[in-house]
Amino acid sequence: MWRTIIFIITIPVIIAATNGCIKRQSNESGDDDGYYCVCNAVQCDEAPEAIKPLNPEKYVLITSSKSGLFFDVSNGVFELKKTSGKQRSCFVRTPKPLGVGLKLPSISRTFLNILFPFRNKKCSLLRPNKENSSPMIIVNRTDVYQEILGFGGAVTDSVGKNIHSLSNETSNHLIRYFEVYRRNGLEFWGVTTQNEPENYKYIPQSVNLNGMRWTPEEESDWIVEYLAPTLKKNNFGNIKILTLDDNRMSLPDWPKTVFSNKKARDIIFGIAVHFYFDATVGPNVLDEVKELFPEKTLLYTEAALGVFQEKPVILGSWKRGELYAHNIIENLSHWVSSWVDWNIALNTDGGPNWIGNNVDSTIIVNSTADEFYKQPMFYSIGHFSKNEEEKEILINDPEKGTAKINVRGKSINTMKYW
Ligand SMILES: *[C@@H]1O[C@H](CO)[C@@H](O)[C@H](O)[C@H]1NC(C)=O
Ligand SMILES: *[C@@H]1O[C@H](CO)[C@@H](O)[C@H](O)[C@H]1NC(C)=O
Ligand SMILES: *[C@@H]1O[C@H](CO)[C@@H](O)[C@H](O)[C@H]1NC(C)=O
Ligand SMILES: *[C@@H]1O[C@H](CO)[C@@H](O)[C@H](O)[C@H]1NC(C)=O
Ligand SMILES: *[C@@H]1O[C@H](CO)[C@@H](O)[C@H](O)[C@H]1NC(C)=O
Repeated sequence: MWRTIIFIITIPVIIAATNGCIKRQSNESGDDDGYYCVCNAVQCDEAPEAIKPLNPEKYVLITSSKSGLFFDVSNGVFELKKTSGKQRSCFVRTPKPLGVGLKLPSISRTFLNILFPFRNKKCSLLRPNKENSSPMIIVNRTDVYQEILGFGGAVTDSVGKNIHSLSNETSNHLIRYFEVYRRNGLEFWGVTTQNEPENYKYIPQSVNLNGMRWTPEEESDWIVEYLAPTLKKNNFGNIKILTLDDNRMSLPDWPKTVFSNKKARDIIFGIAVHFYFDATVGPNVLDEVKELFPEKTLLYTEAALGVFQEKPVILGSWKRGELYAHNIIENLSHWVSSWVDWNIALNTDGGPNWIGNNVDSTIIVNSTADEFYKQPMFYSIGHFSKNEEEKEILINDPEKGTAKINVRGKSINTMKYW
């Protein structure tokens, strides 16, 4: 078993940094300024393996930053055995030890400590302090959280088209992600019934958004009478079925109706939610659904930034990288146990998309140059949590002691120990 603690630093510091990726700088200003990594036929950076050190007091720190570090690996040791919570501190929740899996190339089965600084007053105290002492994060090993099922991007038809536009050599670097997933045992796992059955309620028909209108009753009947038996008959009975696949506006009513069909409730594994319109509906509906159907898993199955914005794609936007990390953390703190980007790779215009609904993506493909660019959002998905200041912080685990970490400004960090 190993633990990770993830945090984001939002205050900038200027540090000249180097690492494995070929860096290119954004030509934007403000928080959209940052770097992205260029991959081509001959080169692409890889997510690091954090190797378990022989010394049990050692931890591994993985950092991505606005200053241009991407999955940069460093080491440190826990020092003092100290459990006092007297210092300004916040407690970090630990997920249930249920074979938690975070599916990223570098991170396979893991137990996570996730820091939630946004809603947690104590954690928001982690800013420069007058006494000049370092703020401390104390790991609470008994406070458990939900199982984490996965993170990633979806292989949509736009993705297929973009990957196909690259040379074989360059696209091989992209395909390697799937190889790594497979090596980590990630095969087809689940299926949703369809995209956004209720988007007709809130998107004007003139937009022509994909989505077939149907009712929760029709969906549950279809799952019980057709989908589940058909999967089973064809030896795909192991594939999990998810209901909804639409925005929070459909919560809790859609699952309430679907699960009033007892057979459907027995068959369906979880509830798939999309991330748009979250500003309109608070996260309390997620809590409500979990209370009503505690055995069901909540998954975020579609997310994208740059939606209906003037510039769908901003190369090197650190701001969007931070937004991803922020949203992932907040949703995880309301029982959501997975988070999937709408597209694993789009072109430099954020397409193709048949209705011009172009958006940003973690990977941007430039077929003219036979390159693809790994955005800050890509690196964000590998880290979750946030802190507020560039400075030294202390991480205390009652069983390990205290580690002193110097964190860079504008960075996302994963600390891992065994
Ligand atoms: C850089 O910014 C300018 C002005 O916003 C824009 O026209 C140009 O396409 C950008 N170049 C790249 C490579 O993003
Ligand atoms: C740690 O978590 C447990 C379980 O949620 C809780 O009862 C306990 O009060 C927490 N300890 C501290 C010091 O916050
Ligand atoms: C790329 O790979 C595919 C599948 O292996 C092969 O059919 C195709 O000929 C290759 N294309 C080039 C240009 O090498
Ligand atoms: C979840 O993600 C959405 C989409 O980014 C965001 O608007 C929302 O604030 C996040 N947090 C919660 C608690 O749902
Ligand atoms: C894509 O590549 C072409 C050719 O190298 C280059 O002119 C163009 O600026 C690139 N686009 C972006 C957005 O980087």
